[in-house]
Amino acid sequence: MTVHSPHPLFEQHTDRTHSNSIKWNKYQGRDILPMWVADSDFKVPDVITEALHQHVDHGIFGYGHPPPRLAELLVERMQQRYDWNIEPDWIVYLPGLVCGLNLAVRALTDENQAVLSPKPIYPPFTSSVKLANRTLKIAPVSLQDNRWLIDLEQAEISPETKLLLFCNPLNPGGTVYRHDELTALLAFAEKHDLYICSDEIHCDLILDKNARHIPFASLNNSAAQRSVTLIAPSKTFNIAGLGASMAIIPNPVLRRRFIKSKAGIVPDVNVLAYTAAQAAYESGQPWLDQQLAFLRQQRDKLESEVNAMPFLKLHHIEATYLAWIDASALPVASPYKFFEQAGVGLSPGADFGNARFVRLNFACCSKTLNEALRRMRLAIKNLI
Ligand SMILES: Cc1ncc(COP(=O)(O)O)c(C=O)c1O
Repeated sequence: MTVHSPHPLFEQHTDRTHSNSIKWNKYQGRDILPMWVADSDFKVPDVITEALHQHVDHGIFGYGHPPPRLAELLVERMQQRYDWNIEPDWIVYLPGLVCGLNLAVRALTDENQAVLSPKPIYPPFTSSVKLANRTLKIAPVSLQDNRWLIDLEQAEISPETKLLLFCNPLNPGGTVYRHDELTALLAFAEKHDLYICSDEIHCDLILDKNARHIPFASLNNSAAQRSVTLIAPSKTFNIAGLGASMAIIPNPVLRRRFIKSKAGIVPDVNVLAYTAAQAAYESGQPWLDQQLAFLRQQRDKLESEVNAMPFLKLHHIEATYLAWIDASALPVASPYKFFEQAGVGLSPGADFGNARFVRLNFACCSKTLNEALRRMRLAIKNLI
């Protein structure tokens, strides 16, 4: 295949239609481009595939410990990238981050207590509260200076509220919280005596050159002691199906409660997932740099083209490969169904808390993105 792009690695289209992919199976046999669930269409870095091959060739897949090197890499990574000094003992490995959200709710609150969640938000935030029979309180996310931010002044709060679920970078919306915004969040948590579970799964996918990810827990000791931070290499390196994730919990009491709540229910992390995570953190950076350059190019195109379409508005995406598109002016009953009928499979905004929005995953080759944009443009043109 001849590709005249500065990003040949990410321009390759790999057929996923027969790979039992959640993203691609949804529209199997139909001419609808799957641009919904948050995994990318990119092949992982060779260093991950090679490490997995080596492990597979060993041929034995019995119970495994987390590799000590992985903890070292994580400690180095947090220090070098995010200026956060963590201890290996603070790390709790998990087979997924949704699992971490659910555990945090169960470990840090009891049934008489309430949990505050942003809205719109990645759906497992609110479902983790409901599944645990805790009371759900909402902190609305609204536009402030063209960025999607939690509006703390409008947050529902009661004496029973004990935990705030936080997402940084934000999904959906792509906001990278700044130092002063995190400090305001900490002041709010201190005032209401809240724990914070900070889902930072998208922290390596910062697209704006002048934005910087700051782990909430790195602010100071008060933030560290009241927090559970969730991170993973899964979005960064496209290994979500393997399931290697981590909670970082500096406070030993919270950590014990968290570990206790998973005992006997949450399985150990798959041994192949550890291998992939270690290879990613050890040697995946050159690939990640290229991916970020490619995603910036996709993001820029998407922003300019969507904003040129009548009825649609897309605010600037600072991080993630997910676009939160405001279709509230579109004169149709369901923007999600409208675009699906036009051959573009987006995530329905209703799942996140606003049915007048749709979420588009742009971690695909530019040919796919161009075709999706063409179909969206045409569908809207036919409406006018
Ligand atoms: C904010 C956020 N948290 C967690 C997850 C999923 O984590 P996992 O697949 O490890 O359960 C996603 C996936 O889209 C996400 O966007």
